[in-house]
Amino acid sequence: MRFFIKSYGCQMNLYDSQRMCDALTSAGHRISPSARGADVVILNTCSIREKADEKIFSDLGRLKSIGEESSENFMIIIVGCMAQLRSRDIIRRAPYVDAILGPQDIHLIAEIVDDAAKNRRLDAIVSTSQDAENKFAQLSDKFVDRNVSEFLTIQEGCDKFCTYCIVPHTRGREFSRSVSEIVDEANKLISAGVKEITLLGQNVNSYAGKGLDGKKCDLAGLLFELAKIDGLKRLRYTTSHPKNVNESIAEAHGDIEILMPFLHLPVQSGSDDILRRMNRKYTCDEYLRRIDMLRRRRPDIAFSSDFIVGFPGETDDDFRRTLDLIKKVEYAQAYSFKYSPRPNTVAARMDDQVPENIKSERLQILQNLLNEQQLKFNQNSVGRRLNVLFTKSGKHKKQLVGRSEYSQAVSAYVDGVSVGDIVKVKITEAVSHSLLGTVEP
Ligand code: 5AD
Ligand code: SF4
Repeated sequence: MRFFIKSYGCQMNLYDSQRMCDALTSAGHRISPSARGADVVILNTCSIREKADEKIFSDLGRLKSIGEESSENFMIIIVGCMAQLRSRDIIRRAPYVDAILGPQDIHLIAEIVDDAAKNRRLDAIVSTSQDAENKFAQLSDKFVDRNVSEFLTIQEGCDKFCTYCIVPHTRGREFSRSVSEIVDEANKLISAGVKEITLLGQNVNSYAGKGLDGKKCDLAGLLFELAKIDGLKRLRYTTSHPKNVNESIAEAHGDIEILMPFLHLPVQSGSDDILRRMNRKYTCDEYLRRIDMLRRRRPDIAFSSDFIVGFPGETDDDFRRTLDLIKKVEYAQAYSFKYSPRPNTVAARMDDQVPENIKSERLQILQNLLNEQQLKFNQNSVGRRLNVLFTKSGKHKKQLVGRSEYSQAVSAYVDGVSVGDIVKVKITEAVSHSLLGTVEP
């Protein structure tokens, strides 16, 4: 069978899609470049904001008509967070869907596709177990193609219950993979040509997996273990919760050479009042102290963050505090969103929801400031020589594109340099969200 996977949402979904691709390819199925021409279409869905949900229903409508013109065995499988959350709605609104798998049930994909290949007609299969341990135990251990920079999920789920967030309801409780399993997977990635690994988890720094000595190991311990792997050139991790940033993580940033000086540390808001109502478990001051602690150990470390504007009850004054915090930290990049009420979350039931026009206004102001900071950060790189890991070809001949240690996109015209090389690049120009540079002989 030819299969096509479309991923929505976060990097954890990209990782899951890759593992489904491995499972299907090693079972003898082939990748199709698009939905048209595929026998099986898999949508790996996201539910983080309402817009994400609605996008999937509109894509499903389009798939239905592709299905009607396609092979008799055309299958649609919905997996991921929105599948977990809205299986009943999917069956009601799109009864032609063949299977629905939550994010911790993706290991079932090969079995389901195999059954379909044998022409057994399926009733819609629904599996939403939230059992991450079982998923990792069952996933195929054969890896197909990998790029220079890849993800590795070390931890699933979330126990923090921020009042706006759907993730604890979709990916379930926190689960950490063991150090030995992670080290094995990292070694396999290196053998497949990977140079940079980004460890993934909703809350990576609350990682608490079984260590090589049988005792609990924290994220810093895992980072030190991975740093021993020959051939691993760069290590990153995301997403961190500010509450769990401790001295040992800061120490790792000071001591591990291949740990990149860039950290995504979402603060969400700069108002203590809003942080409390979000159940973030830290104050603005505590967040700033953690930033200082990291900067003391690794003075050049750059930060990115997520922000939510228009959380219920957010006043002009609260919003101004967020702008003040941004000015204090000076971010290298950031993502920002309008608050979107999610089903069964505490914040969705809060009074004083903020009107849409105010959310839009605030988002615009916030993004202007963040864009200014990103441009300033990039402009400060002009004239410097930055280590760049080239990850792919550019649009033009002899042009390669890669990332600096600070996660900036850099493109350069090169001679005798290949994808996978880390090279010093002299930065010549900062253009909107990326850098241009030259490799000096
Ligand atoms: N509305 C808007 N943004 C949200 N995020 C999470 N839940 C919501 C929501 N209900 C944002 C947070 C998080 C990022 C992945 O998405 O900023 O860090
Ligand atoms: Fe979307 Fe969150 Fe699920 Fe990732 S974990 S796919 S961002 S809802």
